[in-house]
Amino acid sequence: MGDQSRFVTLRGGERVPALGQGTWHMGEDRRRAAEEASALRLGIELGMTLIDTAEMYGSGAAEEVVARAADGVRDKLFIVSKVYPHNASRTSVIAACERSLKRLATDRIDLYLLHWRGSIPLAETLEGFQRLRRDGKIRYYGVSNFDRGDMAEWTALDGGDTVAADQVLYNLDRRGPEWDLVPWCREHSIAIMAYTPLGTGGMLRNPALAEVARRHGATPAQIALAWLLRQEGTIVIPKASRLEHVRENRGALDAALAAEDLAAIDRAFAPPKGKTSLGML
Ligand SMILES: NC(=O)c1ccc[n+]([C@@H]2O[C@H](COP(=O)([O-])OP(=O)(O)OC[C@H]3O[C@@H](n4cnc5c(N)ncnc54)[C@H](OP(=O)(O)O)[C@@H]3O)[C@@H](O)[C@H]2O)c1
Repeated sequence: MGDQSRFVTLRGGERVPALGQGTWHMGEDRRRAAEEASALRLGIELGMTLIDTAEMYGSGAAEEVVARAADGVRDKLFIVSKVYPHNASRTSVIAACERSLKRLATDRIDLYLLHWRGSIPLAETLEGFQRLRRDGKIRYYGVSNFDRGDMAEWTALDGGDTVAADQVLYNLDRRGPEWDLVPWCREHSIAIMAYTPLGTGGMLRNPALAEVARRHGATPAQIALAWLLRQEGTIVIPKASRLEHVRENRGALDAALAAEDLAAIDRAFAPPKGKTSLGML
């Protein structure tokens, strides 16, 4: 696999790992927190040093799991967290970020995202983000669940063109973003973060995916991740709390898909034929 599949270059030139780790549902059961932190820690050791979390996950407890995993290795990590839309006013976003920093036991969040669009004007959130960046509390900011039209609105704001990423539902079964959002973001040097990359329902049980996996001596999950990883500018954040899943997901970086595989995948999971509204979980 080429370098382009292993790293994504953010606006400004910093390179981050294309394969990271998600944390949704971590921290919800305190008895599992040690196991979840160990899974993240293994992922870090395997190079998946970009970790995605949110103040929403486990009502803050996922950020605490990330802090456990980050203990002693914080400087190697690129931590992404998200603010609730109702906490995204120009003043409350500062307080929300401070709470996240405390739970994460760190002095800065590498990338801070608006989790989805709410009723607070985008300009206010942007102002808050800019202040947080000036104060060194966050290094980059971005958005999540923003479709092409929302992106156009955000980037038209004064300073809005510095948005680093848009995190969206994007996997083999949900290829809608390819129609206009992905190309538009690529053109504007905005990274796409593909969430729920392993899909929901029976996606991984698709026979065509199984056949591609068989050809590569890989698993369907690895092929689903490899397919996203080969797309330029796309960060992929599978969540795994089981060690075997973490190892398997890391293996996705070793699967190089050929034209024949891509054609089989396109037949089984058709690319979009027009605009569909952005899905959200
Ligand atoms: N911005 C947003 O609105 C938004 C929405 C959804 C998700 N996200 C982010 O994206 C991350 C990933 O999405 P997600 O957690 O919804 O879904 P996902 O990563 O696609 O799937 C997670 C599920 O797949 C299992 N799994 C992991 N590796 C596997 C493998 N190799 N083979 C089979 N199953 C495997 C996990 O099990 P175990 O945990 O038991 O290992 C877990 O049940 C989230 O954790 C979160 O950080 C963001």
